[in-house]
Amino acid sequence: MVVIKTPKQIEGIKKSCQLAKLTLDYAQNLIVPGVSTAEIDRKIDKFIRKKHATAAPLNYRGFPKSICTSVNDVICHGIPNKKQILKQGDIINVDITTILNGFYGDTSKTFPVGKISAQAQKLLEVTQNALNLSIKSLKPGKLLNDCVGKIIEPYVTKFGYSVVRELGGHGVGLKFHEDPFVFHFDTRASNTVLKPGMIFTIEPMINASPNWRLKQEKDGWTVRTVDGALSAQFEHTVLITKSGYQVLTN
Ligand code: MF3
Ligand code: CO
Ligand code: CO
Repeated sequence: MVVIKTPKQIEGIKKSCQLAKLTLDYAQNLIVPGVSTAEIDRKIDKFIRKKHATAAPLNYRGFPKSICTSVNDVICHGIPNKKQILKQGDIINVDITTILNGFYGDTSKTFPVGKISAQAQKLLEVTQNALNLSIKSLKPGKLLNDCVGKIIEPYVTKFGYSVVRELGGHGVGLKFHEDPFVFHFDTRASNTVLKPGMIFTIEPMINASPNWRLKQEKDGWTVRTVDGALSAQFEHTVLITKSGYQVLTN
């Protein structure tokens, strides 16, 4: 069941989303060659605590760190590690979810580490565009699939890329993951009618190859492309309003 948030809840979720956005801006400055993903994690955790909030991933279903750091062919849910040192040419998704006064905000971006290849740059650009095109189409009364899967899949496949299918966006705000499941590919299963007061994420994971399949690592979290292709992701939390939408993590 998809919950319609009350004005009071929306107010609280907005504040958490604004903090998640601020934290992601802070994260951007930490992304330099030579830094470990564990250092990024520690600094971000500290930053969030100073704002009287907590990082939702920490201990979520046993996740051991405060953020997800997904490098190169890692699609998502990468675990920060002190032995993992960023190097020039890498791409890294940093995914931030905050809990502020009990409300959740969720956002992520894929950053370049120093100078990256033209192919990697193109993947970042197309993935960011895919998210933006989808967001711009949101309107109450429309089907979720018409605003997300039907926009993102045809757009990215034009470039020879693929949309990860096993993972998707989600309702968010009162809990980390709520209904609806947000499919980023075209499917009739995505039949939620958008209504004012709905809050969910759109977070396409796009592989730089036609193969959308993933493999799960033995750590129980890290998810990679099966063929080693690069994968990028951008995520926003959005609110459906009476006339359209509001991006809460902007
Ligand atoms: N923030 C991720 C999302 O966008 C979820 C991470 S779950 C975790 O849904 F446990 F890995 F943190
Ligand atoms: Co996220
Ligand atoms: Co999310």
